[in-house]
Amino acid sequence: MQLKTPEQSKTIMTDLVLPSETNPLNNLFGGELLARMDRAASIAARRHSRRIVVTASVNHVEFTRSVPVGSVVTVEAKVSRAFRSSMEIYLDVWIEDRESGLKTKANEAIYTFVAVDETGRPVEVPEITPETDLEKERFKGALRRKQLSLVLAGKMKPADATELKALFI
Ligand SMILES: CC(C)(COP(=O)(O)OP(=O)(O)OC[C@H]1O[C@@H](n2cnc3c(N)ncnc32)[C@H](O)[C@@H]1OP(=O)(O)O)[C@@H](O)C(=O)NCCC(=O)NCCS
Repeated sequence: MQLKTPEQSKTIMTDLVLPSETNPLNNLFGGELLARMDRAASIAARRHSRRIVVTASVNHVEFTRSVPVGSVVTVEAKVSRAFRSSMEIYLDVWIEDRESGLKTKANEAIYTFVAVDETGRPVEVPEITPETDLEKERFKGALRRKQLSLVLAGKMKPADATELKALFI
């Protein structure tokens, strides 16, 4: 199967924060951001695999900065690693200053998507070759994160998680 790069799956979604999408502090509601990230990640996974894709797990979300109403929010998603049928998608979220146009990092998240056929059965996806230093770093950590996610979901025995053992033992 054809090798692809993270850049080929890159998906950028930019949108405003409307009052109906905020919490009582007038900041973006967490669930709204999760939905925006899910949509961007789904497009990235689809661009990589060219198949139907489903969200398998949300592995990590860090709400480091609140996002005020009226902000221009950009969600950038890229496949960081592809396994047999699953893909790790790394998301970076930025907010843009109205006057200077400068972008500040607001959040990060990691989602796992699985490519499936029309009956919902997992299918193989192309391998990926990271190019930049950041892509290489994210690629390297992805197997560890996959094993952690599978252990937490009860789908892998901790004793079989080779990458986690390397970290703790
Ligand atoms: C995701 C789904 C297709 C996985 O099906 P499954 O029967 O567990 O299939 P498998 O065990 O073969 O797993 C398929 C891949 O997903 C990976 N996977 C499954 N659960 C995972 C988890 N919690 N974290 C990370 N990876 C996971 C497996 O490791 C495997 O990866 P690989 O093929 O790259 O090695 C199935 O659980 C599903 O359809 N879930 C519902 C998806 C959905 O509706 N999402 C929207 C939620 S509203």
